[in-house]
Amino acid sequence: APVRLEDYRAPAYRISTVHLDIRLAPRSAKVRARLALERASDTAPGTPLVLDGDDLRLTALSLDGRVLADGDYTVAPDRLEIVSPPTGPFTLEIETTLDPDANTKLMGLYRSNGTYCTQCEAEGFRRITYFLDRPDCLAVYTTRIEARVGEAPVLLGNGNPVESGPVPGTDRHYAIWHDPHPKPAYLFAMVAGDLACVSDSFRTCEGRDVALNIYVEHGNEGACDWAMDSLKRSMRWDEEVFGRAYDLDVFNIVAVSDFNMGAMENKGLNIFNDKYVLARPETATDQDYAGIETVIAHEYFHNWTGNRITCRDWFQLCLKEGLTVFRDQEFSADMRSRAVKRIADVRLLKSHQFPEDAGPLAHPVRPRLYHEINNFYTATVYEKGAEVVRMLKCLIGDEAFRAGMDLYFRRHDGEATTIEAFLACFQEASGLDLGQFSLWYEQAGTPVLKVDSVYEKEAGRLTLTFRQQLAPSPKQPDKKPMHIPVRVGLMGENDEELAPAAITGADTTGDVLHIRTPVQTVVFSGLTGRPVPSLLRGFSAPVSLKSDLNESDLLFLAAHDKDPFNRWEALQSVVMTALIAATAGAARQEAVTVSPALIAAFAANVADDSLEPAFRALCLQLPGEADIAREIGHDVDPDAVHAARTAFRRAIADDIAPTIRATYEAMRDEAEFSPDARSAGRRALRNTLLDYLGHGSDPAGNLLVQTHFEASDNMTDRFAALSVLTHAALPGRDAALAAYEERYRAVPLAMDKWFMVQATAPTASTLERVRQLTGHPAFSAGNPNRVRALIGAFASGNQSQFNRADGAGFDFVADFARDLDRRNPQAAARMMSAFRSWRALEPGRRAHAEAALRRLAAETDLSVDMRDIVERCLQ
Ligand code: ARG
Ligand code: ZN
Repeated sequence: APVRLEDYRAPAYRISTVHLDIRLAPRSAKVRARLALERASDTAPGTPLVLDGDDLRLTALSLDGRVLADGDYTVAPDRLEIVSPPTGPFTLEIETTLDPDANTKLMGLYRSNGTYCTQCEAEGFRRITYFLDRPDCLAVYTTRIEARVGEAPVLLGNGNPVESGPVPGTDRHYAIWHDPHPKPAYLFAMVAGDLACVSDSFRTCEGRDVALNIYVEHGNEGACDWAMDSLKRSMRWDEEVFGRAYDLDVFNIVAVSDFNMGAMENKGLNIFNDKYVLARPETATDQDYAGIETVIAHEYFHNWTGNRITCRDWFQLCLKEGLTVFRDQEFSADMRSRAVKRIADVRLLKSHQFPEDAGPLAHPVRPRLYHEINNFYTATVYEKGAEVVRMLKCLIGDEAFRAGMDLYFRRHDGEATTIEAFLACFQEASGLDLGQFSLWYEQAGTPVLKVDSVYEKEAGRLTLTFRQQLAPSPKQPDKKPMHIPVRVGLMGENDEELAPAAITGADTTGDVLHIRTPVQTVVFSGLTGRPVPSLLRGFSAPVSLKSDLNESDLLFLAAHDKDPFNRWEALQSVVMTALIAATAGAARQEAVTVSPALIAAFAANVADDSLEPAFRALCLQLPGEADIAREIGHDVDPDAVHAARTAFRRAIADDIAPTIRATYEAMRDEAEFSPDARSAGRRALRNTLLDYLGHGSDPAGNLLVQTHFEASDNMTDRFAALSVLTHAALPGRDAALAAYEERYRAVPLAMDKWFMVQATAPTASTLERVRQLTGHPAFSAGNPNRVRALIGAFASGNQSQFNRADGAGFDFVADFARDLDRRNPQAAARMMSAFRSWRALEPGRRAHAEAALRRLAAETDLSVDMRDIVERCLQ
């Protein structure tokens, strides 16, 4: 049965303390939980106590020290009911027996490469013991962990270490951990294993000395420096920018190789997918380094936004996730180039969240109903959720935003709260009515914002007419107008910003217009020259902007806008229009041509040394095939999109070949590899140009790709060359793939790249190759990273081949997901979200996709996770 927001009730009983005693053994773990319980004041005496469970086996049960008789309780794998609990406070002792090795769902307690670990968010704690497994049940935890010394010399829990030692007369030992901060069960964690440790320390602004430890498999100690450095910078940044200091004596991070998501913010004991911890220049790309920095920061920032202040219920997931993504984005922006980071974030938003919002899986940032909460850890909750916080800051200004955050921390520390409570803090701090703004949490879909401009020279007046539209989405046929922040600048012909004497028709916060009505006319008066309006600077709202600016205005902005984000966006928008036209042409077998003005803009960008290389690289990267498909919106033919984009790239590569070649040479490494933003930016530009060289018609340019591969002394360059060789099917491809495989055979994270690059090759033989690779010794269907690298990359990263005209791509992915569902429903459901845009395909492909979905829907034993995705896709 679905869970609904309006059905929320506070728990009938409270749990104040939890004592866990966990005795580990490979096929059997005994968990004794001692819970201090109390009836809530508004609960009638005698009300049954109902605890959640999932796949549990109860092996002992007592209440206030007395073993319970049969009639006193009922038990099932998913539920324990105490029929008539005492009216006053009481203690319940529950023993469950688990098999960590049999746990392939990777939720609850499981073993990954011999290490015992846990994942409890969202509802995994109920797979460990019967509990009130809901985020508004906050308790203080003490955890005793016991295991054989030889098997698990390291025993970790939440909070601070209390004591540890041998269990006399046995080959076992134990450790006790205590976490003084009340927390919901989803933040519980424990780890036990034979792990290596890299240590450092940090002194907080409050004078607390914190021991920092990163635990990894033996042999990986040398790959933790970047993660540790990122952690220390995160801790300092949160003090400086948000006034938040760490609150325990230790901060532990554990890297495990089997993990469904990126990482988890368990109190004092973060558990990470090893992909977001381990980095060496030989095995990690610049993108991997940036990802580690971001995820380490994200999980650390959760300590305040998520842990100290948590969610009342899972509908409020964005309260912690959207806000924490916003915080990690700001952190990375401060560590690197703010403009480059913003462009990267918006690219991600458009490529992942916009399609979600436009298809059958669309849902509000705060959903109102779910069948399976794990299916709501989405780009909408995370990335659009972060955009909503960013808009709030934009509308009320930096100072009021900081005051609102301070109030939020002061008022709600130690609570499980809601979006309403969060917004109230900003309303109070700013005095701005946020009623209409709160619709961003309620209404799904990406608003379309149309802008028409009229300039009257004599009057010195520019009139902008804004029209907002929000299409119906699942269960939301009618939409209300949104409160949209539109940051605007007016660029004069001589390269300077024009300042209007007055702005009428909209409230403003600095250079931000408040657009609130379906049609809103804003007049800028007292202008001394013709302005080119630079709209939605910094992407001030997650909308689809359709302005009436023509190609020459946009290319003017691309070269002159003072806002670097809009420089990038203006060029992208010209390119997108051209690519859509080229796609229509490709479908009619016409040759693709690129306008001379656009060629000139590319050439200028490649050669402009006044701009940072990372920014130039982004400007030169064409929108992806999925982005083009999304903008076309209906009856998409992915082969035509691919053909158009390929021809377009070739035309640019050929037209400005000498400029590309010269800049490629100029961006050669200056010194030894370093992952810093500046060096990474130079590599990004050089490797973007390499992509053009590999896809151009000049054989000498093509040959450089092979040389680049052979000369590379770091993963960024090696993998960039391997990608071009594989995707452009250049001579030397097979030798390079073999050399790479030989070199990295024993490095699983590096082999993921090898799987991925082959799975995303836009050629007819790819499906067969992917099928073969499922039998490769380095592949394992039980490991989420391997599955994502091979099948996930094929489904979500290969437009033309997943969407093959014969439907074989759909069938393959559906079949794989169907098998995976028996083992790991969460991973299977995630894989199936690749079908989210099926309705936008041309009729033939649409029919094949629908048939694959219907075939799955007809299966009787799908998991709740899978059925939810499949049925929503079909609705
Ligand atoms: N809270 C974690 C993070 O943001 C994600 C955990 C998701 N887990 C899940 N089972 N859905 O970083
Ligand atoms: Zn998070």
